[in-house]
Amino acid sequence: MKPDRYAVVGNPVGHSLSPRIHALFAAQTAQDMSYQAILAPLDGFAATVLAFAAAGGRGVNITLPFKEQAFRLATRLSPRAQAAGAVNTLRFDGEERFGDNTDGAGLVRDIVHNLGRGIAGQRILLLGAGGAARGVLLPLLQELPAQLVIANRSREKALRLAAEFDNAAAAGPAAAVEASACGFAELVGRSFDLVINATSAGLSDGAPDIPDGIFAPDCLAYEMVYGKETPFMAQARRAGARVADGLGMLVEQAAEAFLLWRGVRPETAPVLRELRETRTT
Ligand code: ATR
Repeated sequence: MKPDRYAVVGNPVGHSLSPRIHALFAAQTAQDMSYQAILAPLDGFAATVLAFAAAGGRGVNITLPFKEQAFRLATRLSPRAQAAGAVNTLRFDGEERFGDNTDGAGLVRDIVHNLGRGIAGQRILLLGAGGAARGVLLPLLQELPAQLVIANRSREKALRLAAEFDNAAAAGPAAAVEASACGFAELVGRSFDLVINATSAGLSDGAPDIPDGIFAPDCLAYEMVYGKETPFMAQARRAGARVADGLGMLVEQAAEAFLLWRGVRPETAPVLRELRETRTT
């Protein structure tokens, strides 16, 4: 019997830590599987995934810039993928392509389990209103924070995202908490217990233009980017916040995908430790 095959599909994908993470999970849980990185042409995502499935592949993770295309390629969606409007995990069962989004669950698990910070009753500020912010909004609201404010450089985009979730949440379990929205300038004079940077600013060493006062005493500042100290992390540190990067989220979203595929939840702590010890960047 050949091992079950999985892959991460992206463009670029060479830098992805996912093959290493899933190899560690597979070894730890004694699952007979392989996991590779596949570079899909920018105009050939669907064809690449369908060819992998036709050749016997069991599932894929999807990374930038294909998560919205993966959403459209799924034949069935989890509620959290539906809410995110994006898919980072596909599982192939016969003709079915089940689409899930494990990013938000990964973020919540990293914050609650690994960093030991409950989200319930906390004041949360989510910076950004693009795909990364949308992907984590429902799982954050489901933790029942005291408030969740979406702030974005383009204020209109934040307002649209919050309104969209309020409509969707009215029928669902997150209805108890509503997201509100504003631009960065309106953050002056407000403070939060948890500030999550879901903007892509850090990727290009940019920084969201936010006031220092947003970091309450004991604030956790969470940067979704990993592998480097971003200007957001530096600012939060200077303001006295506790700072985390997104490596834990990456490992936790992978564990959640592994669970979906294999029915086993791997231990993430040893994998996260090993990645941190051997990280070269
Ligand atoms: P992603 O999928 O990573 O969220 P995206 O959908 O292109 O990517 O969204 C990028 C997000 O980062 C947006 O919220 C963007 O703000 P705007 O909507 O105002 O463009 C935000 N962003 C990117 N660079 C930024 C910067 N230098 N300062 C503040 N916000 C930034």
